[in-house]
Amino acid sequence: IVFQRLEKNFRAFTVLAFIVTFTTFLFSFTLRDPSLYFFKYAIHKSDNFFSKGQCGCRQCMTELEDDPWFTERFNQSVHPLMSRRNSLLTDDTYHWWQQLQGHKDPANFSEVVEKLFQVIPDDDDLYKDAGPERCRTCAVVGNSGNLKGSRYGPLIDSSDVIIRMNMAPTSGFEKDVGSRTTHHVMYPESAIDLDNTTSLLLIPFKTLDLQWITSALTTGSINETYVPVQSRIKANKNRVLIYSPAFFKYVSDTWLESKGRYPSTGFLSLLFAVHICDKVSVYGFGADQYGNWHHYWENNYNGGNFRETGVHDADHEYNVTLLLADKHKINIFKGF
Ligand SMILES: *[C@@H]1O[C@H](CO)[C@@H](O)[C@H](O)[C@H]1NC(C)=O
Ligand SMILES: *[C@@H]1O[C@H](CO)[C@@H](O)[C@H](O)[C@H]1NC(C)=O
Ligand SMILES: *[C@@H]1O[C@H](CO)[C@@H](O)[C@H](O)[C@H]1NC(C)=O
Ligand SMILES: *[C@@H]1O[C@H](CO)[C@@H](O)[C@H](O)[C@H]1NC(C)=O
Ligand SMILES: *[C@@H]1O[C@H](CO)[C@@H](O)[C@H](O)[C@H]1NC(C)=O
Repeated sequence: IVFQRLEKNFRAFTVLAFIVTFTTFLFSFTLRDPSLYFFKYAIHKSDNFFSKGQCGCRQCMTELEDDPWFTERFNQSVHPLMSRRNSLLTDDTYHWWQQLQGHKDPANFSEVVEKLFQVIPDDDDLYKDAGPERCRTCAVVGNSGNLKGSRYGPLIDSSDVIIRMNMAPTSGFEKDVGSRTTHHVMYPESAIDLDNTTSLLLIPFKTLDLQWITSALTTGSINETYVPVQSRIKANKNRVLIYSPAFFKYVSDTWLESKGRYPSTGFLSLLFAVHICDKVSVYGFGADQYGNWHHYWENNYNGGNFRETGVHDADHEYNVTLLLADKHKINIFKGF
């Protein structure tokens, strides 16, 4: 009897071993051989089925049974980018936006917008392509010194969309921050020249900023806002995008509960990514391991205005960012 039992166990074990071997074989085989795309597709689809995703990634920004905290805030119908069609602002939004930098006698907004869209493309459908076939992975790269020595470069460069901001350089820092940039977020006072393949994403704080980008891409007639600014900018005109003032207000009111005077560039960039991406990874946010707030390209550890307290509520922004990570909406890479 003992012998029979052993034999049974052995037979069960053989069957199990066979199944494991076969599955492993099939799996590695299907991943390598494109002719077995069907199997790969089936595996991919079942993955979707289990995650109940709204996109083609393993996990999506929006899920069918979503977290209530997230659902309360996330409003898909507020689009992050300005187009002619959505440029008409409510009085409330217009006044909120105008007081951000309190500029006197602003030019006629709708005339400025019209001139702007004669210079840059007016694409109302950009990034509104969410669906079960799309898996857009995005890296939002902040400027924190915690990137130094992180060796995140290849990981960052492997994303579909790579968003950098303000003065951020890549040259000389590729190992830690990567070399590709698909979107560079800036305002006139923080502008730098870009290469031909990068989208300049302008965050306008006032009507003059919209006049500035129009001018900087054409005549170069505007050389100062409240400080001297670059009168011309190197950037591909066909890729220039404008952060919508209505979206700006939505981020401030809904995500930050109107704490701080307005959100930081980093937080605005993060919410842009949350709205246009299926998977968001965040790099270079927060202080470094010693609690220092400085840029990765500077050695000045008592570094300037990076934390920008006063205007922004950095603690609240950080709390909301951590909550987004807790709810598996974003992935934070803490650096070194
Ligand atoms: C979402 O945004 C749209 C457009 O601004 C607005 O009409 C709608 O009320 C918002 N929905 C929620 C639930 O806040
Ligand atoms: C701005 O210009 C538009 C079109 O030229 C005009 O209809 C509108 O009344 C102007 N608005 C203000 C506040 O002057
Ligand atoms: C940018 O690239 C396009 C082709 O992709 C080319 O036609 C254009 O001349 C380039 N512009 C600059 C400023 O290099
Ligand atoms: C801007 O241009 C005007 C007119 O050309 C000039 O007088 C002024 O000094 C310039 N300002 C700066 C900051 O370069
Ligand atoms: C951030 O979260 C911590 C812990 O939950 C809380 O004590 C703190 O008051 C929050 N700060 C802000 C500014 O909301």
